[in-house]
Amino acid sequence: MLKCWNAPEEAAAIQWNATIPAMPAMEGRLAGVLEAASARPALVEACGLTMDYPCDGGTTRVVEDVSFAIQPGETLGLVGESGSGKSTVARMLLRLIEPTAGEIRFEGQPLPPASSRQMRALRRRMQIVFQDPYAALNPRMSVRQILAEPFAIHRQPPPEGLPTRLRELLRSVGLDESALARYPHEFSGGQRQRINIARALALRPSFLVLDEPVSALDVSVGAQVINLLRDLQRELGLTYLFISHSMPLVRYLCDRVAVMQRGRLVELGDCLQVCEAPANPYTRQLIAATPEMPLANSRSA
Ligand SMILES: Nc1ncnc2c1ncn2[C@@H]1O[C@H](COP(=O)(O)OP(=O)(O)OP(=O)(O)O)[C@@H](O)[C@H]1O
Ligand SMILES: [Mg+2]
Repeated sequence: MLKCWNAPEEAAAIQWNATIPAMPAMEGRLAGVLEAASARPALVEACGLTMDYPCDGGTTRVVEDVSFAIQPGETLGLVGESGSGKSTVARMLLRLIEPTAGEIRFEGQPLPPASSRQMRALRRRMQIVFQDPYAALNPRMSVRQILAEPFAIHRQPPPEGLPTRLRELLRSVGLDESALARYPHEFSGGQRQRINIARALALRPSFLVLDEPVSALDVSVGAQVINLLRDLQRELGLTYLFISHSMPLVRYLCDRVAVMQRGRLVELGDCLQVCEAPANPYTRQLIAATPEMPLANSRSA
């Protein structure tokens, strides 16, 4: 019998299935991405990333020797139990925290030191969308101020002029320009996450880390945000690292998937292949715990 991860997850996963269209389109997309990937160098590479945090006067290792590469235009899923180190890997990739060991490469070059001018310039190209759309927006700032902030921080006014760019950003995430004068508390969770996405896109990044971007949202609202992310990726040629607890979502959105357990990468491969025939026992466990996505060999049962 298939086990449930937990009841709310199960309910959510079943509804995700109802809200999201079927898989075949993604298979075609995967073939295209893999073909393109073989011809191009990686956009982002994690090489032996390791993180030790201080703990009880010593240190505790929360990420150990994690390596992967993400090709331009690809979506790599990162899954694993809570505390397995997914967000820590993401923060290291963006150099928000310094790895204890290992290297991050962007377009084939090692990331420069965190405080350097080159790194500040690179930050425009690498952005993150966090899980909690409430916490991520300053309640005292209007949407206009929130969206204008990245241009001020990076001292890079948009060539088309700020008002035009702000309108365009809102339009791209499905919001009306009347949102500009309003404050975060005047929006729903889904709308706030759209504002977060618009802010992340402001400086035209090429790489976005999506750290559980819909797990705080209602299922149907989350599905709309996922489809928005997918459309934006197509339109803007974005590359994603998509962190999630939901295997159905990962299967829907990702080209490849990396599985973490207790700080280590235990499996990395083509998303459909991993979902159909996981090589690692822990991945099998994760997939088996998702009720609407049984393992291939239990389908006929
Ligand atoms: N600043 C910190 N200091 C000490 N330990 C930390 C710190 N940040 C994270 N940790 C620990 O590192 C481990 C990995 O945390 P991380 O947030 O990367 O996990 P995660 O896989 O993203 O989990 P979740 O799915 O719950 O978001 C956890 O045991 C966490 O408690
Ligand atoms: Mg996390």
